[in-house]
Amino acid sequence: MDEARLAFDSMYSAIAGSRVYRQITHRAFPDLPEWLIPYSVSPSLVLLERIAQSLNIGPASSFMDLACGMGGPGLWICERTGASLVGVDFSAAAISAATTLARHRGIARATFVSADATDTGLPEKSFDGLMSIDAIQFMDARSVATEIARVLRPGGIAALTTMEALVDDLPVATVAKDYRAVFKTTGFSICDYEQLADSAEKDNALFESIDLYRDALVKEIGEAASPMLEEADERLKRAKAPPRARKIFLVAQLQ
Ligand SMILES: C[S@@+](CC[C@H](N)C(=O)[O-])C[C@H]1O[C@@H](n2cnc3c(N)ncnc32)[C@H](O)[C@@H]1O
Repeated sequence: MDEARLAFDSMYSAIAGSRVYRQITHRAFPDLPEWLIPYSVSPSLVLLERIAQSLNIGPASSFMDLACGMGGPGLWICERTGASLVGVDFSAAAISAATTLARHRGIARATFVSADATDTGLPEKSFDGLMSIDAIQFMDARSVATEIARVLRPGGIAALTTMEALVDDLPVATVAKDYRAVFKTTGFSICDYEQLADSAEKDNALFESIDLYRDALVKEIGEAASPMLEEADERLKRAKAPPRARKIFLVAQLQ
């Protein structure tokens, strides 16, 4: 756990102010606003709009962005819906970048907290909605679903993207095979579930963009680029092989 946190934290320390990482994401996600820098493969305006609609929140509501990274996706939903946001991530560098971004965008109803997503320490029954993009696959599935059930109010909605394993030997051992079953057993009913058909293509767009900018990235952030470049190499190498995981969009309502 600490190893994973340190790995994410050092990556965020390197990319938070990186001009080249910004160029990489602009090329991979051309529809996103220029200020929104994801550290994930799924974001698009269509996905963000779908999350906003699914959460069904407005100015009187509060929602959480669980494992929020540098804050962009949650802040987009915050601006779109008028709801108050608490972003949570275990990387202090990500939380610092998200806090700075909220300040630059003049959003006072967004705060960001450094905490483990499976044990946030936030009050129970305090959120109307919860979003999470490309993150819960890194956590014990049952623990994170239990924490989501704890912080949501009854009737609250979780809308998220994650991976589901199709094989037993993925490098990330926490990827569950069936998140619907996990959420059902922690008190949710499933409102929407879809395999994101375009995800392989979209993942490749990001990894191709990383590959294209590899020299510039190394020049700018040095050794810190290595994990990202290694992952891009691995993912591009596997691009034509049979899929080992699928990307899903899940909406679940707490009973
Ligand atoms: C692929 S990134 C996605 C970040 C963000 N949702 C986005 O779309 O840009 C996965 C995120 O999960 C966070 N994370 C992983 N395990 C976590 C945990 N146990 N508690 C809190 N955050 C965690 C990482 O720090 C990272 O920010």
